Amino acid sequence: MSNPAQTKQAKIDEANDTPPAVTEKKYGLFLGWLEDRTGLISRLNTVAGHRVPKRSKWAFVFGSATLFAFILQVVTGITLAMFFEPSSATAYQSLQRISTPGTAEAMVRGLHYFGASLMVVMMGIHLIRVYLSAAYKYPREMQWISGVVMLLLVLAMAFTGQTLRWDQTAVWSVVVGAEQASRAPIVGPILARFLMAGDTLNAGTLSRLYALHTYWFPALLFGLIGLHVFLVLRNGISEPPVPGRRVDPRTYKQEYQARVKKDGVPFWPDAAWRDTVFGSALIILMAFLAWKFGAPALSKPPDPSLINADPKPDWYLIWYFSILALWPYGITNLMIILAPLLAIVGLIALPLVSNKGERAPSRRPWAIGIVVVTVGMIFSLTLLGYREPWLPRFGTPPLTAQQVNSTDPSVVRGAALFHDQSCILCHKIDGQGGIRGPNLSQIGERLTKDQLTWRIQNGAASMPSYAGVLTTDQLRDLVNFLASRQ
Ligand code: HEC
Repeated sequence: MSNPAQTKQAKIDEANDTPPAVTEKKYGLFLGWLEDRTGLISRLNTVAGHRVPKRSKWAFVFGSATLFAFILQVVTGITLAMFFEPSSATAYQSLQRISTPGTAEAMVRGLHYFGASLMVVMMGIHLIRVYLSAAYKYPREMQWISGVVMLLLVLAMAFTGQTLRWDQTAVWSVVVGAEQASRAPIVGPILARFLMAGDTLNAGTLSRLYALHTYWFPALLFGLIGLHVFLVLRNGISEPPVPGRRVDPRTYKQEYQARVKKDGVPFWPDAAWRDTVFGSALIILMAFLAWKFGAPALSKPPDPSLINADPKPDWYLIWYFSILALWPYGITNLMIILAPLLAIVGLIALPLVSNKGERAPSRRPWAIGIVVVTVGMIFSLTLLGYREPWLPRFGTPPLTAQQVNSTDPSVVRGAALFHDQSCILCHKIDGQGGIRGPNLSQIGERLTKDQLTWRIQNGAASMPSYAGVLTTDQLRDLVNFLASRQ
């Protein structure tokens, strides 16, 4: 048999030796011209015709769907950049101008907004699919690792993108994000200063975030997507796992080639039509959402002197926000950097420590367990993020006479004070009120009148002290009311 490298070179030489007339006859006048000058047509044909495993069905469309979403983001993002003024003085107004419902510009903003959600969701499902079918095992370790890095970049894109709205919420997310980051030891302050382009919010902050969002992160993403797709073509699409068929690096490549030769199908159109249908359907769905709901509303113009803003990220990052908000202050500083670091190192190390053996989920029950627990945790943290238990529940109505359930005038006055003095914003009674503080429905059983008085006078870590706020009579009424809660 001849040396494969020589054969390859011979093929290239032959292509280069072919007179244009022959190529044009083979491909037609226009494509033949293109093929003769570039060689792209034959290479595209090779890629389209390469054989892939037969049973890779709908479960395999999420990777290409992420790519579709990325392309949508690039196109809409560049379009938005044509209208957006990245200066803290005018950014808000420039966005306001292109957010008028019903205009084409608002639709582009809407597409970019929904496209971001789409990209995060598709990437998440793709990650879960690859993890469950252990497609990260030999020889696809680098595909997984490049994917993990892209995951981080996409989340960074999501965060920086939201800050570019440069409204009250966005400005405060930057401040909160930097504050959270700065609590991490050593790298924290450096990271925070990098993010804000200084120690505090300043004229350079928006330029910094804009450059990250529109130049650095996308450039890195482009490179990594190129690598990721190249590796998919080089190593082949993983075949659906079969219980008992183990990955052995010594024999895997030969086995894969043999299988694909025996019952594989050409990538185009047999496998790729699903990617095309699914990706196009998603783009149509995004266009519908953008047309129906338009661009996300901006909150008030930024005013760094107003600190009663309620900064909150878009829905797919809420879970992380919940973790930060619920995290007890004491142990946190190290963990804020350590926990994500451990998660990232774990994800990157996964294919390096486990690259052979079973791939079928039925033989890896713990993998299913990990996915269920992680998805469950993200889901509950997201719900929690929307309920915001850590915030006082403003606007809670007063307790009804039925809930107070007493005719003692002092208790009735105390119940009214419980509302008027804002206790009810943090404490629940009879299912009504906030949950920042403990439920006080049966507090009379737990604390004596002296203990109640002491607590109300002194407050606690997250409860204001009411000494000097309440008169002696008011304090007595409140205590009488709480003591009646048995
Ligand atoms: C900003 C939220 C907030 C407000 C407003 C607030 N509390 Fe509290 N309260 C808390 C928190 C949090 C705790 C738990 C403190 C701890 O144990 O560290 C608490 C604890 C208590 C306790 C002790 C409960 C127990 O189980 O030990 C009582 C009693 C109490 N609050 C009564 C009141 C009354 C009466 C008012 C109104 C005058 C009030 N609180 C207003 C947050 C609040």
